[in-house]
Amino acid sequence: MKKVIASFLFILLCYFSFSSFSSYENEKYTKTTELQDVNNGKKLYEKSCIMCHKASGEGYGTSFPPLAKSDFLNADTDRAIRIVIYGIQEPIVVNGKKYENFMIPHKDFSDQDVADVLTYVYSNWGNNKTKVTAEMVKKQRTKK
Ligand code: HEC
Repeated sequence: MKKVIASFLFILLCYFSFSSFSSYENEKYTKTTELQDVNNGKKLYEKSCIMCHKASGEGYGTSFPPLAKSDFLNADTDRAIRIVIYGIQEPIVVNGKKYENFMIPHKDFSDQDVADVLTYVYSNWGNNKTKVTAEMVKKQRTKK
């Protein structure tokens, strides 16, 4: 009888560890699909950029430069990628206005996150519609 109980418990244990493993797999799967979601860029923008650069990308006063029709942004995609990852702390001129502020880094963003948020920015507000890929982001990460 003890043996029967023991093997029953063993089967139960196997069942539970297998089902928790598969739910972990499921979770991983949903996370990746969410990252590849085309709306990911918009979500990230609303969470991490909107407070400074504003919903329509026009920036704010003399402190936060615009992302809308930004000559600075459209001139150099690699530089924009580095700014999102590492932040920036030097005076810049955007659309003829000087900004002497600093921007925080986003080191917790994955390559795909940086790509998605910038693709969102580039595809809106009169920008040049550059599609930024995770591959492009990866190249900039290894540079610094
Ligand atoms: C806490 C405020 C803040 C947040 C949050 C922020 N930025 Fe910035 N950003 C700035 C400031 C300030 C500058 C200008 C820095 C300077 O003067 O050197 C800047 C500059 C930039 C530039 C280059 C200048 C331009 O206007 O083209 C880009 C591109 C940019 N930010 C994108 C982003 C993106 C994308 C996010 C979200 C992932 C983000 N920023 C989040 C404050 C912020």
